[in-house]
Order: sequence, then C-alpha cells, then structure tokens
Amino acid sequence: MEKGKQFEQHTKQGGPPRLTQPLIAVAIEFNMETSRLAFCTRDDYNEGRIRIKCKQWSKCDNLLTISAPSTVIITPDGKTLHGYGYDAESFYDDLELENEHVQYYIFKNISIKLVKSFKETNDVHLIDENGKTLPALTVFTLVIKFFKTEIQRHCEQYLEEDKYYVIIVPEKFQEIGAIDFIRTAALEAEINVKQLAVVTEIDAVSLFHQKETHNQKSIIGKKFMIVNAGSYFTTFVVHESTDLGIVKESTAVEIKEGGGKVLKKAFKKLFGQDRCMKFKSESKREWLQLKNKFLQKAFLFYPLTTSIVRMKFPSPLLQDLKKDLRSKKFSSTQKSETFKGISVSSDKVCVTTELMQTTIDPSVQRVIYDINQAMLTSADVDTVVVFGEFAKLPMLKNGVNKTLFNKDVVFYGDDIEAALKGAVIIGLGFGQIEKIDMAHNSAIVAAIDFGTTFSGWAYSLRANFDSDRTKAVTKHWNSGSCQTEKTPTCILIGPDGKTVEAFGYEAEEKYQELAAKEKHKDFYYFKRFKMSLNIKLGEKLDRNITLEDAMNRPLRAMDVFAMSIKFLKDDMLGFLPNKHIGYINLDDIHWVLTVPAIWTDGSKQFMREAAIMAGIKTKRLTIALEPEAASMFCRNLPIQATTSNTGVTISSLSTGTQYLVLDAGGGTIDITVHEVDNDNNIKEIHASSGGGWGSTIVDKQFERLLVTLVSSDVYEQFKRHNADDWLDIWRDFEVKKRQISSPFSDSQLRMRIPSLLIQRYVLVTKEEFANVLKNSKNSNDIEIVRDKINFSSELARSWFKTSVDKTVHMIKDIIAKRHVNVSAILMVGGFSESLILQNAVKSGFNGIDVIVPDETSGCVLKGALIFGHLPKVVTERVLKYTYGIETFDMFVPGRHPLSKRIITDKGTVCQKVFSKHAEVDQKVKVGEPQVWRTYSPQFKSQKQMSFSVFASDRPNPIYTDEGCSLIGNLQIDLEDHNGALDREVLVAFTFSGTEIVVEAKDMKTGNQSIVAVDFLE
Ligand SMILES: Nc1ncnc2c1ncn2[C@@H]1O[C@H](COP(=O)(O)OP(=O)(O)OP(=O)(O)O)[C@@H](O)[C@H]1O
Ligand SMILES: [Mg+2]
Repeated sequence: MEKGKQFEQHTKQGGPPRLTQPLIAVAIEFNMETSRLAFCTRDDYNEGRIRIKCKQWSKCDNLLTISAPSTVIITPDGKTLHGYGYDAESFYDDLELENEHVQYYIFKNISIKLVKSFKETNDVHLIDENGKTLPALTVFTLVIKFFKTEIQRHCEQYLEEDKYYVIIVPEKFQEIGAIDFIRTAALEAEINVKQLAVVTEIDAVSLFHQKETHNQKSIIGKKFMIVNAGSYFTTFVVHESTDLGIVKESTAVEIKEGGGKVLKKAFKKLFGQDRCMKFKSESKREWLQLKNKFLQKAFLFYPLTTSIVRMKFPSPLLQDLKKDLRSKKFSSTQKSETFKGISVSSDKVCVTTELMQTTIDPSVQRVIYDINQAMLTSADVDTVVVFGEFAKLPMLKNGVNKTLFNKDVVFYGDDIEAALKGAVIIGLGFGQIEKIDMAHNSAIVAAIDFGTTFSGWAYSLRANFDSDRTKAVTKHWNSGSCQTEKTPTCILIGPDGKTVEAFGYEAEEKYQELAAKEKHKDFYYFKRFKMSLNIKLGEKLDRNITLEDAMNRPLRAMDVFAMSIKFLKDDMLGFLPNKHIGYINLDDIHWVLTVPAIWTDGSKQFMREAAIMAGIKTKRLTIALEPEAASMFCRNLPIQATTSNTGVTISSLSTGTQYLVLDAGGGTIDITVHEVDNDNNIKEIHASSGGGWGSTIVDKQFERLLVTLVSSDVYEQFKRHNADDWLDIWRDFEVKKRQISSPFSDSQLRMRIPSLLIQRYVLVTKEEFANVLKNSKNSNDIEIVRDKINFSSELARSWFKTSVDKTVHMIKDIIAKRHVNVSAILMVGGFSESLILQNAVKSGFNGIDVIVPDETSGCVLKGALIFGHLPKVVTERVLKYTYGIETFDMFVPGRHPLSKRIITDKGTVCQKVFSKHAEVDQKVKVGEPQVWRTYSPQFKSQKQMSFSVFASDRPNPIYTDEGCSLIGNLQIDLEDHNGALDREVLVAFTFSGTEIVVEAKDMKTGNQSIVAVDFLE
C-alpha cells in the first residue's frame, strides 16, 4: 500500500471552524498621520457592548489623547526604537538642543512615507528627517514590536497565545500592495501568523457599523456605501451585510484625493501662499503647529453659530501680514477680497465667518462631489456610512446630509474608536470580511483564445468595460489577402527548438519561403496542435508528451504551447499604447485563457502550466470555458449584431429562459445549455458535452481522399520535399471549404493541383496523373481536367457528414432531457458559419430559434474578457461527473469484500472506498466549496496525507476500482505529527469553478492553504 495515503473521514458542512478562541483582541491602527493602540477582552465584549481600552498618549501639554503622531525615533545603530509618538517628538527636540539629533533616525508620518516609497519588493527604504535611510521593514517591525510590548505591559495576566492581533491600515496600503509588507513586519515582530489579521480601516468600521446597527434593526441582506473621508484620501466601497458578523465587498475600493489636501491649500491661500511658504521654510515646526491649529478651528466651525475665528499667529508671520494689511500690498497669489475678511487684533489674526466658510467650502465640495459620483453607480444603496478625520467637519456633515437627503446617512466622524472596535470584532472571531478577489480588478484584462485552427488576443480596459462590455481591442492579423481577428495556430521555431521565428500567417509564409529554398528541414513547424490535449476522462496526460512537427520531428508539447502563448502575450503587450503603460503595472494585467468546456482537468492544468512558463503569473490567470465566454458575449451584444430566423437575440431573452450553446470550432464541438439568471448573469443547466469532431474533420476527410488517390508514399514525399506547394493546397482548401454549400458557388469544388505533385506522382508510379482515378471508388464524383481536380458537391458535402450528424444527434439528445427547456440555439465558433451546419441545425429543430451572431469565431475571444472582468457572471454550473476521494472504512464483514480488507494502526479497514464529494448532474453554486470534510491518519508514522481524486459517470460509486477513474493526486504535510490518530485535516473541494480548487486546513497548526491537485502524469 502506498505510504501516507491513509485516513478516515468525518463530514462537517459549512465553513471551517475557528481553531482557538482568543481571549483578548489587540487592535493596532496606522492612519496616514496618527496611530492608535487598543485592546478588548472576551469578557468585555460579551457584555453586549464593545468596551475597548485605548492606550492614552500624553501630549507635551500633559493632555491625554488616544491618537499619537506616527513619529518614531531610532537609535544611531538603526536597531532599537528609542521613542514613539509625542515622546519621540519631544525627545528629538531635546536632542536638537544638544545638537545630537543628526545621529539618530527620526521618521515622521511613517504611513505617508511608506505610501510614497512603496514598491512590491522587499528593499523599500524610508528617508528620515535628515536624509538618512533605513529599511521600511525595520522601521515598521520596531514600531509593531513597541506596540506589542505596550500591550504586554498593560495586560500581563494574558499569555501570548491568548491574543489575536488586528492591524488596521489605510485603504491606500491595500491599493499599493503593502498588506503583505505589514504582515511581514508583524511576523518579524514575533507575532504568530495564526493570531494576526491585517485589515483596512473601511473594513473594520464596516463591521462595527453592522454590529451597531444590528442592535436597532437588522441590516442583513442590505447594501451600504462606506466612505472613509480621510484627510489624505477619500475612499469608497459598497458592502453588503450578508449575515451577522459577515460583510461582503460588492464593489472594489475606490480611492480619491482627500478633502484635507484641498483644505490645507486653501489655508495657505487665505494668508498668502508666498508668505506662508517663506515662513514654512524658516520655521517648519511653528508652521506645522499653526496649520494644525487652523484645522482644529475648521473642525469646530459651524457657519451658523461661529461668529469670528481667532488664531494666535507666530510673530514674524503676524508682522508680515500686518504690514501688507496696512499698505494693502497683497501677495501675488492672494486676491484682495480675502483681505476684507482678515483683521489683526494684538497677537491674533481674526477671520470673518463668511471668509472662513468660503475657505473651507471647496474641500467639502470636493468630497461631496466624489460621494455623489460614487453614488451614481450604486443605486441599490440606501445607507451611506461616513467616517474618517474629515468627517469630523461640521460643514461636511451638513453638506452630505443635504445632498443625500433621500438616503440614510450615518456619521462616525467623532467616534474615533470605530475602527478599533471593528478590529476587535474581527480579533475575537465575531466578524469577517469577504473581499472581492483583487486579481479580478485589474485595470486591463487580456484574453488569449488558443484555438485548434485559429488563435488571437484581445484586451479591454476596466474603465471602458462598464459602459460597453463587448468593447475590445483586437489585432487585425494580415493574411495577405484580408485581415482577420485571429491568426492560424501555427508556430515556426528555430533549429535550437527554443526560439520562436514566427507565429500565425507569418509563420506559414516564412515556412513556405524556407521550403522554397529547401531550408525548412532545420526548423520546427507545428500547426493545429491543440487537439493533442483533447483526452477522455480516465486518460492521463503526461507533462512531458512530445509533439511531432510537419517533418515528424519531436519537441516537448509544453514548450511549444508555452512559446505560442508567450508569443501572443508579448504581441499583445507590444500593442498596448504607451499611455496605458505609464499608469498600469504590466504585472497587474489579468489574463484569461480559454479552453473547451469538455476538456479534462488535466488538459486545463497543462494549459495553465504552459501559461506560467510563458511568464503569466498564476494568480493573474483565469481559465475560461469557450462556450461560456461566447454565450456571455452574446448576452451583451446589441440586438442588431445577430441574425436569427425570427429576430430573437440572446441579449433580449428574459430571466429564466434557457438556450443551448453550440460552440463549433476547428477542433471541438462543445454543447451546453444556459439559463438567463438575474443581473445579466448566466447559469449552466446542462453540463457540457461534445468532442473532437470540429471543422478540421472536414479537412481530414479531404486529406484522406487525397492520400488514397495519390498513395501515401507520394503524399508524404510531396509534403516533405515540396512543403510550400503542400501548404498552398491547404490555404486553398480553407477558402474552398467555406464556399461549399454557399449559394454563390457553383455546385463543384475545384482545386488546382500543384505541378510538383503531379510530377512526383508520375515519377513514383510511372503512370499518367489522370490515372489517379483508376482505382478510386469515388471516380464518378471526381474529375481531372489538366492541373485541376473537381469534386462533385455531393462528395464535398459528404466530408461534413460525420461532424454534422454527430452534432445534431447530440443536440437532440440534450433537448430530449426532461430538465431542459430550450427555446433557442446559439451557434458560435467559426464552424457555425458553415451553411451546411446551420441548415442541419435549423431543419433538425423546428420551433426553436437558431441564432447566429455576426462574428461567430470572435465571440469566444471577446467573451473571455467579460469573464476576466466579472468572474462571477456564471453563477451556477452542473457537474459532469461524480467526484470523490479514495478513503477507508472500518471493515464490516459481510458488507465489505474480503479482497479489500487490510490492517492499519486504526484496526481492520476496508480500502479503496469512494468517498463522495459531489454528484454527477448536481447543480453547484460558483465559488462555494461543495463540502468540507475532515480526514485523519491511519498510521502513527504518517508524515503526510495523500489523497487520490476520482471521477465517475455513475452517481453513487462504492469503490474506486469500480467504474471510477483516477484524475489527480494531492498531498498535505502533517507538520510535527506526534502519531496521534485523531489528528484532523479539514479538506474542502470546490468543483464549481472552471478548475477544481482544494483547500485544506490543518486543525492542529491552523495552517490553511490552497492545495495543488496534480492532474498530470
Ligand atoms: N463557412 C465555413 N464552413 C466550414 N468551416 C468553416 C467555415 N468558416 C470557418 N470554418 C472553420 O471553422 C474553424 C475555425 O473556427 P474557430 O476559430 O472557432 O475554431 P478554433 O477556435 O480554432 O477551434 P477550437 O475552438 O475547436 O479550438 C476552422 O476549422 C475553419 O475552417
Ligand atoms: Mg475556438
């Protein structure tokens, strides 16, 4: 028996249980300028209200506050934190007096500094006040360590294991990708990864809001917009409260410039920009104090009740202002009217209510404008929650209430503990946030349709996507005679087997040129190789399979696929206009690669691995199913872009309507049934079926006939030695094939025979070419006229028969099923353009609308983009197989066969038991694991658990060796396993996506991970 593959199972439905129950939640909040520290014990939480204890920082004037400036001072060796917050500032003042300050490191506003210098690598450095640098990781690690020690001092009675840390960061951190950075800093500060969460302010406040509101009325199922009106940034997101303690992101977070920036500018303008800048450069500290004082005044300013605003001004600035006021000589940037509202009395400057109001107003309007903009796309929101430093501003409150008069507006501006309390909810395990997968929020989505006969790329910008989902940029490949959206799937590789010489039409042409010069034999030329991955359930695909090129020379298939994908990827990147490259990180492009829906998991994995080899990050790649992509595209098409016999279009179908999707490509015929779901989504009603009898079958039939006519010997020689002429035949056939059955062609199919083929025939057979028909059973349907060969239309049409008959037959089978109720057939894929196929479908299904979009072959490519932007548009799928894993049962004599009886450390067990995870034809909701199960080891000595995944056509297989096929394997390491047989690992399978995803959680260590299933040999 294979070592390690030993476990037994228990079933638990629902999400993974939380391992430990922390007794105390620690919340660390990094704002842009300040930071806070608080904790809450489980007991304090259970009393109904969240009672948190915040660290009180003492300001220089001995006032206590819960916010400290994010200022840190670090010893000259760069290793120890010397002070934080107000302490750091006053200590630095002392050092300055002694002129020792330059030896130390002082960093003010570490969050702002991080945002400014962050890049997604580990060597980010922060520049201190005197221009010296330290690694950002060192600075943040020291600060987090300091907070950790502070908490330890305050709650000595708790052990480290009892704590759960939640670090709150500005949304900007998430945008720049700094969440992992903070996590790393926390780990460096020796916080256990299992006791740590890093969340954004908005997420924390959202959970707090849910709890607050829930006490009054239920908001479960409701959406609300949450706005962090910070001083630096205003951030928006729409959340949905799905359950108590769970809020889900409905939109991606959007970040705009904050009102504080506008207000600070207005402040300078008020007293004269030049004057202020001069003063700032002379005495920075006094300037900052003055600016903060002004902000405080603004935060207390009520236009109706505040009469006049008085501020004590530092004397140089005051004198300067006085002078100008007297002489009415204003600074260049200051308008004379502002002076009308300013006066000086002794050491104070006074500003009238009106002037103060007009100064604050633009910053308020800016935020209100952004809120209104965000509301435009969020009509389903009836509550708006506003928090953040700027939300303290009475004028903002007023303005927001006024503009959103028909919405519920909640302000947490004064409640500076809101985020801390939300963090506590998360820390104690009472709340969680379901995030939108950021991978799917890329500014650009690019798609590659890797077809059997034709391939191409397309991309679309997120910014344009919302207004028109079918809008895409595609390349127009030049075939010589016309331009097409896809190019032939053929690749010319150099003699080294590694360098791509050309792809598509260019590869055809170059190869033909090489062949004309007899130089092609050193090169590799592959065409139509996608079908090598088209295998059946139970057949194993080897990672190392080889392909034979046109000259029968082998090359590793994975390399050929990777080179082709890389070519298409680089070609697309080369087409991106410079204006995009400037603001988009190319690594952020989300890639979608399409595959036939009927493919096995092994084939999909093969494509994914090839794409990774081609330089696409696995996180940035989605595998889409071709018929789904095409179906989605047609759902979004304007009415006029489709033709159907009755004027019905896919986009006009109403919710609940079912339609059959026939994706007829070059290689595969893929058939599924979709139902229109709410919100323009689609549901799969019938699992995809079909096979490899696409349009290239027609080519093969023609080729077979040609071979029987001229003999395989002659044909092979011709192909090898006259490759350019051989390619000509195929180019010609591709055109002629489209004319068969076209109302504009005459009934015969005429093709020119290359003279070299005729010569070779004569040379080898010593007969005249006209004699090719001598032994042919089709001699009545073929005619040779000099160098032309004419096929009767019956013969030419017969080449289509296998493919067309099989397709119609399969559609009939599906339509006859009880649970489907098809009211239209959507024909996509290039082969759908064939009138032979169209007529067969139309006449086979009376009463059902047959819809053919204008561009049948581009649907897949452009639909893939929609899938990249909105991965959840397919909401439900139907399982093609029953899935399960091989396990053990305690042996029951009489019930289990003796042949499967074995002894393990657990006792006598029956092996090869099929443990069902999901059943064939089962409807599965996309994105949700179908079932969570725990498994435990069979042997004390096991170091890992191995799982074999099986699939079956049967609904209820009992043993894995009866009617089941092994499709893949996965392993989970049992970290520090002490031999306990009750050690549990929780495993969740998700079968509803385009690929199978397995998650495992080790119940001992708490480690949770996505486990890779290997479907390849
Ligand atoms: N009018 C037509 N009659 C017959 N066949 C056609 C016609 N138009 C296109 N085809 C065939 O359709 C195929 C191209 O379709 P498409 O681009 O959808 O296939 P693909 O994406 O390369 O293949 P697959 O999706 O199976 O991997 C070619 O084999 C082409 O010969
Ligand atoms: Mg295709």
